[in-house]
Amino acid sequence: MTVRVLFVCLGNICRSPMAEAVFRHLVEQAGLSDQILVDSAGTSDYHIGERAHPGTRAVLRDNGIEYEGRARQITPADFEQFDYILAMDNENLADLRRMAPPETRAVIRRFLDFADGVSIREVPDPYYYGQPEFEYVYRLVRRGAEGLLAHIRAEKGL
Ligand code: 4NP
Repeated sequence: MTVRVLFVCLGNICRSPMAEAVFRHLVEQAGLSDQILVDSAGTSDYHIGERAHPGTRAVLRDNGIEYEGRARQITPADFEQFDYILAMDNENLADLRRMAPPETRAVIRRFLDFADGVSIREVPDPYYYGQPEFEYVYRLVRRGAEGLLAHIRAEKGL
């Protein structure tokens, strides 16, 4: 059994690539790479084909996490192929719910609903800010990724 997890934000260059990279890193550390497949996408077409934002790349590098992905836009097929689709903010969640085919079996939730000890439920968009914001976002993403992995392991018996 492979569990497929997709992280989604607006541009797929700041928040969702960070979540993808951090979550994959935790999956690798847990020895679950064969069981859990991780990807990310944007709701918009603004940055298709681009590398992650320099702020995201820098904070990942500072934390010893590699990321080589390129931005892509979510497609209807994603709603068939992924088991969990995680929105970074309420706007992403509303967009995903609107785009989702009625028959989708994917669990579509806000990413930070899985974060323990975090009072906010949306990952702020660091696109218009500088490096401190990316570091703050990294800490939120880390908490979300830890909580999500624990949730999936419990739910899927991994
Ligand atoms: P992201 O950030 O959704 O976290 O990748 C953004 C990236 C680009 C834009 C907005 C947010 N933009 O408007 O181009």
